[in-house]
Formats: sequence, structure tokens, C-alpha cells
Amino acid sequence: MISTFLTISFLATIGSVVAQVGPAAVNLGTAGNYAILAETGITCVPTCVIVGNIGISPASSTFITGLSLILDSSGKFSTSSQVTGEVFAANYAAPTPATLTVAIHDMQTAYTDAMGRTPPNFLNLGSGAIGGLILTPGLYHWNSGVTISSDVTLAGGANDTWIFQVTGTLTMANAVHMTLTGGAVPKNIVWAVAGAVTIGTTSLFQGVILGKTGITLETGATANSRLLAQTAVALQKATVNN
Ligand SMILES: *[C@@H]1O[C@H](CO)[C@@H](O)[C@H](O)[C@H]1NC(C)=O
Repeated sequence: MISTFLTISFLATIGSVVAQVGPAAVNLGTAGNYAILAETGITCVPTCVIVGNIGISPASSTFITGLSLILDSSGKFSTSSQVTGEVFAANYAAPTPATLTVAIHDMQTAYTDAMGRTPPNFLNLGSGAIGGLILTPGLYHWNSGVTISSDVTLAGGANDTWIFQVTGTLTMANAVHMTLTGGAVPKNIVWAVAGAVTIGTTSLFQGVILGKTGITLETGATANSRLLAQTAVALQKATVNN
């Protein structure tokens, strides 16, 4: 029943001007300028590798730990040998505080948008256990947490989109890989998660995380994504590529 519906809607989409399958993109607004954005903390057990800007607000720069920040002479941002980009905090010189306030608001709006989309193409897939599955573009909703305990594949084209709505926690086990095939790109994949997100040791995660709470990358984990958390982001010798 569900697959019949999907086949029809996908063909209709492909028949339009742009060959794109999946829900309309989530607008990240200015939150999309950051690889990591958090409200209460950003912690790193060195060495971390972060490609992209990071920002914290309303908490101050003292709530960023493990990155050995060096404040720029302008007072508007810091740098770190572990960050390929700039580090912004709510206590830095203008216009940084105001810029961050807007970015945090945009992050919250994006979460509300992503979490509010209806109707799902896939409801409670795998009862929340999605290891081993091949996930095609679409809107996914779980009335529970989601666990990824073995490798998982997202299969779709370069313009295809995925939105995953997880009303509980999202937990990826250790040494698990999320693989993209067919040209799928992380920026078109959005995970809206109400509970804590945990990516296990040496695992590989793909897609933008909009976390209502915190996001943790355990030792040696990699996320090809943006980590946008309404509480804190914790990295343990982890890599974040936006
Ligand atoms: C993706 O969209 C762009 C812009 O509409 C288009 O030029 C390109 O051919 C599309 N790519 C695929 C794989 O559909």
C-alpha cells in the first residue's frame, strides 16, 4: 500500500521540470553558515578536526573547551588549529552576538519546520532499528528512538532529499558506516531529533543534524554534516566536515 503510493508520487515528481525526489528542502537560514552551532556548550577531547565555522550562543566562549582558542585582534572571532574556519561566541565583539542570535533562531525554526512536516512516506520503519536497510528519498517519521546498529545506505540522486523525524533518541553503534549511493549528498539529508544524538566510536554519519537537545560524537567518529544543537555538542577526537 505504502510502496504503491510512493511509486506514483515519485513518478509525478520526476515528470515535473526538475528531477528531484523527496520533501522540499529545509531552509537552514544563517544556521547554514556553521558546521557546528550550539546553545550551551561545544566540547572537544583533542584532537578534533572541524571543517567549517562554529558558533555558540547564548553561552559564552568559556563553554567551548578543548579547542585552544586564539582570539583574533578584532575580538569578533577566534581561531583554532583544530578548526578550518572561524569560531564565534556570544561574548565576542559586535556584530558577532547579534549574528549568532539570528543563527540560533534560524536553527530553531529549521528544527520546527523539519519536525513538523507531514505526512510521512515511511512511518516507524523497522520499528526504529534501521541498520542494514537501504533508505530511499522521502519523509520518515518514528514515534520512538532510532538505532543504527549495522551499516545503512541512503540511495538517491544529487538533488534528492530525505527528512528523518525522530521523536526519541538517535543512536549509532560503534564502527557503523552510513553510505551514500547514486550521487546523494549530505546537505540534502536532514535528521530532526528530539532526544540526544550519539554517534559511536569510529562510525561515519551523513547529513545535517537538527538536535532539540545534544549531539555527541564518540572517539574517532566522523560526521559529514552540520551539527546544529539546541543544547551542546560533544566531540571526542572526532571529525566534522560540513
Ligand atoms: C539537479 O538540479 C540541477 C538544477 O535544477 C540540474 O541542473 C541537474 O541536472 C540536476 N541533477 C540531477 C542528477 O537530477
